Amino acid sequence: MGFTLHERGYNPALAILTVKDSKRVFRGNLNNFLDLIKTGNRLGVDVYVVTTNDFSLSSAHVQGYRYDFDKKKWSRELVPSPQVIYNRIPYRKMEMRPEIQQTLQACNRSGAVQLFNPSFFNKWTLFEWLNNSKESKPYIPETRQLKSAQDLTQMLKKHSFLYLKPVRGKAGKGIMRIERLTSNVKSTDYKLSRQANKQMILTHHPTIDGLWNEFVLHRGKNEYIAQQGIELARFDHRAFDLRALIQKTSKGTWSVSGIGARLAGKSSITTHVPRGGSIGEPRKLLTHSFGNKRAKNIISKARKAAITLASQIEQQSGHQLGEMSMDLGVDTTGNIWFFEANSKPMKFDEPKIRKKSLERIIGYSQYLIHHGRRR
Ligand SMILES: Nc1ncnc2c1ncn2[C@@H]1O[C@H](COP(=O)(O)OP(=O)(O)O)[C@@H](O)[C@H]1O
Ligand SMILES: [Mg+2]
Repeated sequence: MGFTLHERGYNPALAILTVKDSKRVFRGNLNNFLDLIKTGNRLGVDVYVVTTNDFSLSSAHVQGYRYDFDKKKWSRELVPSPQVIYNRIPYRKMEMRPEIQQTLQACNRSGAVQLFNPSFFNKWTLFEWLNNSKESKPYIPETRQLKSAQDLTQMLKKHSFLYLKPVRGKAGKGIMRIERLTSNVKSTDYKLSRQANKQMILTHHPTIDGLWNEFVLHRGKNEYIAQQGIELARFDHRAFDLRALIQKTSKGTWSVSGIGARLAGKSSITTHVPRGGSIGEPRKLLTHSFGNKRAKNIISKARKAAITLASQIEQQSGHQLGEMSMDLGVDTTGNIWFFEANSKPMKFDEPKIRKKSLERIIGYSQYLIHHGRRR
């Protein structure tokens, strides 16, 4: 029988790390933070918010923010320094700032505090990592960096359609799709689709050079990857994909907290809800395409794939990760494909997944407090 940290006079504390904001105190999804604070209260972990400006590794106390649920107000106060830090810095640009990098790297090195989810992922790096193991490789669509018209030529030789994605993108921003249409033997036609706000814009090009020029016009300063297109299973003529949430448990091991589904909008090339997509029930959608028995089997395959992929990502990243969400495609023959992983998952709207996700963050923090690596 051990003793709890409470008995030793510690109060297990989890700091949600974000950045300061001049208008609304600090950045991030505040409702998300509140839900985590409530779950912490219920399960015995003291949860508060700390900004990168205030955080310091060397002092016993830091300036943090607590929420007063009666007055419905945040208040800035001195809090005991945390044992665990949950990184929710909301934007890549902010996370890349030198002073913030310094803080995160100090936390990574420190034995006194456990940081999980040290940074955003980069879409290209993810594919490099996942191609490095024979367990994860079968789930990976062929992907390459898109630097020249030649890259397009190579990819279009092998695949009849491609997805072009910014390596630092999210929520469908900047995604384009190319289709090679060969109506008759002599003429080739390449169709480029891209999403501009809510609208889809289509252009046609007889040559790859023309296609490349159109792409260059719209890529801005962003680095892109080109990826083999996957013929997604459909429901009611709408493509859908799976969103898995994978988190570490109170035992410190990866587990799938839930899998949801997202259906593409009628003419959309992605399944994002803000772009006309909608939430679906994986079991129902898959049963429609594959029948009951195969649907069940595909879901268990997806769960297994998610764990394999998450473990490989963590191992290759060289850092301690606590959670990620993953976009997985199911093709028309029932195979599972990896599209991307997100180290700072957005809120899942499915209530069951939502509840579990909050409890797991607290549970994993408790695990880290008791068993985390010490140097
Ligand atoms: N290779 C692909 N084949 C078919 N559909 C894809 C492919 N890549 C992405 N998609 C569709 O586009 C969506 C967004 O792609 P994703 O890589 O998740 O980018 P984002 O970071 O913008 O969410 C996916 O959820 C999927 O529906
Ligand atoms: Mg995505």
